[in-house]
Amino acid sequence: MAVFDIDPIVDQMTLEEKATLCTGAGPWRTEGVERLGVGPVTLCDGPHGLRRLEDLTTMTSPGLPATCFPTASCQAATWNTSLMEELGGALAREAIALGVDVILGPGINMKRTPLCGRNFEYFSEDPYLSGALAAAYVQAVQGAGVGTSLKHFAANNQEYQRFSISADVDERTLREIYLPAFEKVVKEARPWTVMCAYNRINATYCSNHRELLTEILKDEWGFDGAVVSDWGAVHDRVTALQAGLDLEMPGPKPRRVDGVVAAVRDGTLDEEALDESVRRILGMAHQGAQTPEAHPLDSSAHHALARRIAAEGIVLLKNDGLLPLQDPTHIAVIGRAAREPRIQGGGSSNVNPTQVDNCFDAIQRLAGEARVTYAEGYASELDIDQELIDQAVALAQAARVALLFVALPPVLESEGYDRPDLDLTAPQVALIQAVTAVQPRTVVILNTASAVVMEPWIDGAAAVVEAWLMGQAGAGAVADILFGRLNPSGKLAETFPRRLADTPAYLNFPGENGVVRYGEGLFIGYRYYDAKEMPVLFPFGHGLSYTTFAYDQARVSARRFKDVEGVTLSVDVTNTGEMAGQEIVQVYVHDREASLVRPVKELKAFAKVQLEPGETATVTFHLGFRAFAFYHPAHQRWITEDGQFDLLIGGSTADIRCTEAVTLESTLDLPSLLNEESTLREWLANPQGRSVIQPLFEQIVAHMGGDPGSSEEPPEPTGMDAARSVMDMPVLGILRFREDALPATPEDIVAWLLEEVR
Ligand code: BGC
Repeated sequence: MAVFDIDPIVDQMTLEEKATLCTGAGPWRTEGVERLGVGPVTLCDGPHGLRRLEDLTTMTSPGLPATCFPTASCQAATWNTSLMEELGGALAREAIALGVDVILGPGINMKRTPLCGRNFEYFSEDPYLSGALAAAYVQAVQGAGVGTSLKHFAANNQEYQRFSISADVDERTLREIYLPAFEKVVKEARPWTVMCAYNRINATYCSNHRELLTEILKDEWGFDGAVVSDWGAVHDRVTALQAGLDLEMPGPKPRRVDGVVAAVRDGTLDEEALDESVRRILGMAHQGAQTPEAHPLDSSAHHALARRIAAEGIVLLKNDGLLPLQDPTHIAVIGRAAREPRIQGGGSSNVNPTQVDNCFDAIQRLAGEARVTYAEGYASELDIDQELIDQAVALAQAARVALLFVALPPVLESEGYDRPDLDLTAPQVALIQAVTAVQPRTVVILNTASAVVMEPWIDGAAAVVEAWLMGQAGAGAVADILFGRLNPSGKLAETFPRRLADTPAYLNFPGENGVVRYGEGLFIGYRYYDAKEMPVLFPFGHGLSYTTFAYDQARVSARRFKDVEGVTLSVDVTNTGEMAGQEIVQVYVHDREASLVRPVKELKAFAKVQLEPGETATVTFHLGFRAFAFYHPAHQRWITEDGQFDLLIGGSTADIRCTEAVTLESTLDLPSLLNEESTLREWLANPQGRSVIQPLFEQIVAHMGGDPGSSEEPPEPTGMDAARSVMDMPVLGILRFREDALPATPEDIVAWLLEEVR
């Protein structure tokens, strides 16, 4: 935040002015304090383009035209932080031109389930990838003088009962999965504002959640901006202020203001808490007042950028060699989505585009001499229209290749509610099956926000392309990729499962009785499928290219390193095919042994490299403390443990090309967590604990007639392996059995044991 003297302004403000400042003046504006030279701030949606309403005094008037960029699912599939910076710069220019000070985005909630209605607005199922992309976005927007609002803080992962549901999530899962993307952006990019979510976490509304808004966000992460409520998320204004919710939106709300004034007067609310929020909002107003002058917008340059983002985000999921198209003489373009592409999802992020390209025209432009024909294929309704299917089949049969475009009905991918399933509609499935039955040279182009299941039809398709909600210029990008004018380089930022029933949250979604239990814990997305060794349709990180890449010469700066220093990893990547292309190199870390359960592997670094045919690039990554750490709820902090890790380098979670083993030395001097309730196994797992407990363990096992080192059959008469049976007993429990044989009381022995360990 720019340094300027806020305190003298706060000192001059009346209590009423302070309370008024903390609630919006209208749907999209904050209050100013005119007599003190404080201007209002304008905040508008949204993440993939400006939704600046014509009339800022309404919630829903038409939006002014703005570039509709591809939505976050597609942006994330680019894995390209420089492109995110370009996007941020363009969004900032549009915001300035439209008089907007703060963009209400990006949305960085985790994709806990592919059913979440708002997944199109979110990046990924992986916190590291989401954080890295969002940090680049926020830095670029704010570097150009416009603010951002990082949303929705936090654990806002479904639309079902979004205003009230309690996301019941354990502390470690919150820290390792749902908070890290926010943490990274707050620490690295310092967003002007963070938007607090509607829902509750562990029974407390996010807007009332002091631990979340003050202790974690402000105190621990050092967030120095303003916490803004999601629109209508505040339940109790005074409690929310005490919790750290600075600005309530939208306004005006005179009764709220009166309530805050009264609470200060009667001593319920400490005026210092109000002053703290006032300072933060004044800081934002000051930043807003520095917004640079508007320059004329180059809409066609922004349209071209939207096309480049779409091109880099499109994922070639399957290709038996049909793509890129080789001068086909007759192309059948099938499916309404070819003429009416879905460019974005429904809800608050909906942009009024400056123009919209369509795939049919874009294909025709690149088809050269080829004949291009069109059939609608399916109607917008959900009923199968056999006549439309028959027309499409006839066309496909007559052509050399069929390009079949499908988009879910817009109403299915929207803010406000979740998807009922992962299926394409029945008419679409029937159409794909009918067309592929007569035309094996069929490419299915999906125009969807998120994963869909494909088992009923994928085997019949020669190629499948995921084009996402592609933004206003995506059509040209799709055509470029189909015809090989561009080499696809997008990779999935979310797993495509085989069936809905396979998905991690399946048994704990969408919740009931006001609660959704995050029972899968850390194991969302690929973390789940890896741990279950469950096959998926397309894994996280997957995306094909028209060229091939070889990985070679993986090397590390040190085999043994200290956690605080980290380790540097390099690999040579070569384009071994015949077309220039980009490869997304991914680094996952596997912890061989830990005192708590950990995912099999986790993404900790990535890079996108452009290579000409035959060209080699050395890609280097630095992995620091957090790449190896996990959050330990008992220590209430991120910790590392001595031990061996594998650094896995590859092209997707399922395509690991090189593995480097390294040994980490933890520099943490953590207090021992061992006590009399700890089990023998826990004592034995701790290096100091082991030396203390081992003699006792042997004595106990011998007493029970066993042999601690033996793998022999258990002795008669119990048939029980004594050593194994005591492993998970608390030490105190064991001592109770051996009291007679021990020189002191169990309590004395435990005290002595603990003393030895500490
Ligand atoms: C959405 C936010 C959005 C706000 C303002 C809310 O309903 O959840 O994402 O920024 O409205 O439109």
